[in-house]
Amino acid sequence: MFADKIYIDRRKKLRKKISSGVILFLGNVEAPANYRDNTYYFRQDSNFSYFFGLDLPGLAGVIDIESGEDIIFGTELTMDDIIWMGPQPKLTENAAKAGINIVRDYSTLHDYLNDAISKGRRIHFVKPYRGEQTLELSKLVGLKPCAIEHYVSIELIKAIVSLREIKSAVEIKEIEKAVDVAYEMHTAAMKMAKSGVYEYQVAGVVDGITLQHNGHNSFPSIITINGHIMHNHTHNNMLTKGRMLVVDAGAEIESLYDSDITRTTPVDGKFDSRQKDIYEAVLAANMKGIEGVKPGEINVNNHIAAVTTLLDGLKELGLVKGNTHDAVMNGVGAFFMPHGLGHQMGMDVHDMEGLGEDYVGYDEKTKRSKIPGIGSLRMGKELRPGHVFTVEPGCYFIPAWYDLWKGEKRAKDFINYDKVAKYLDFGGIRIEDNILVTKDGHRVLSTKIPKTVADVEAICRG
Ligand code: GLY
Ligand code: MN
Repeated sequence: MFADKIYIDRRKKLRKKISSGVILFLGNVEAPANYRDNTYYFRQDSNFSYFFGLDLPGLAGVIDIESGEDIIFGTELTMDDIIWMGPQPKLTENAAKAGINIVRDYSTLHDYLNDAISKGRRIHFVKPYRGEQTLELSKLVGLKPCAIEHYVSIELIKAIVSLREIKSAVEIKEIEKAVDVAYEMHTAAMKMAKSGVYEYQVAGVVDGITLQHNGHNSFPSIITINGHIMHNHTHNNMLTKGRMLVVDAGAEIESLYDSDITRTTPVDGKFDSRQKDIYEAVLAANMKGIEGVKPGEINVNNHIAAVTTLLDGLKELGLVKGNTHDAVMNGVGAFFMPHGLGHQMGMDVHDMEGLGEDYVGYDEKTKRSKIPGIGSLRMGKELRPGHVFTVEPGCYFIPAWYDLWKGEKRAKDFINYDKVAKYLDFGGIRIEDNILVTKDGHRVLSTKIPKTVADVEAICRG
């Protein structure tokens, strides 16, 4: 947790952006895995954490615009809790760490909110992403669970995004620490990428590194020789010569800030010429996507430039034909790279997406494209200093996707299907970095993690 003044300042800034009413943040509760007392690890809600800091279950934070009060609602621990969990600070002591001196029993929250509602005051809340929180919010504000989403406060969502998306110096330091852990995770995986090793053995080491740093994974690690399956969370395959190991994994450190890095390593440490050709095309796309990152640039343009560069590389190999920029603007990028160039990062690995993807990645000036591929971009809008996001182009050969496109003769003037057919046993490659927009350009936060062919091969050699 940061110093109390950081949370006081964040709440002060939020107040200034909300016209009137009461802002309610529900912290998360314990989530049972298979019965009540056997829980998943506790993960605080990121909005609650941003404004109230406390990493404890069962709290709610309230910001009353008119009265100027900030209040923590929670339940004081009983002797029973102390017997099972050991001595714990009092709720008032915890609240003081976030600069809050008004603490009330959680059981009074319902009446507090209903008193405000009866006076015609607006309760501002965001859409819950967990079932329990939807039911809890429904009870607290007297709305049916299915009605909650129609009453979320757009004013609050926009205010939160405008604050959370510009990372301060202390937040950037936390993200850098998470990237440092990712460096260990990825270089360990590169060294283990040898034939005969199983994906789950690599996963055990990679995920264990986050625990060694008192952290967790920022999302379930993707560690696979089938990189063309984009969110492949199974780890059952044995690594064999001729395949590549795609590792898309990051750390979430104690402060809940994240990293999200992808590297692709040839099994047994040496790219064959076909792998090297595609790898260089993806690497060129990665560098092109990064090159254009600067304040004032619309990130959709970086996506288009990166995918055009990818197709230029594939054209040299004979997989693509025609004008590559026209190809991208006709949705052909989605054949090789069905996802976007990147997403914002911070306390959530896809930062703030619980608030709604388009509120985070788009604005009045930049609307989501309807063009396949370009429309999958999560962070599309104008870049500002303090934005942190990923640049993660990839190239995938997905047999079912190939059958569909070829069968429909889609983009036949741009895709050389006969040539692509020779790559259907290839898998996929993705290269993902974490980038900070600075006052006059950008800083790649993940430069240390090997990414050129020579650097990856050197790490594999140990
Ligand atoms: N690294 C996983 C994702 O961005 O979806
Ligand atoms: Mn990512």
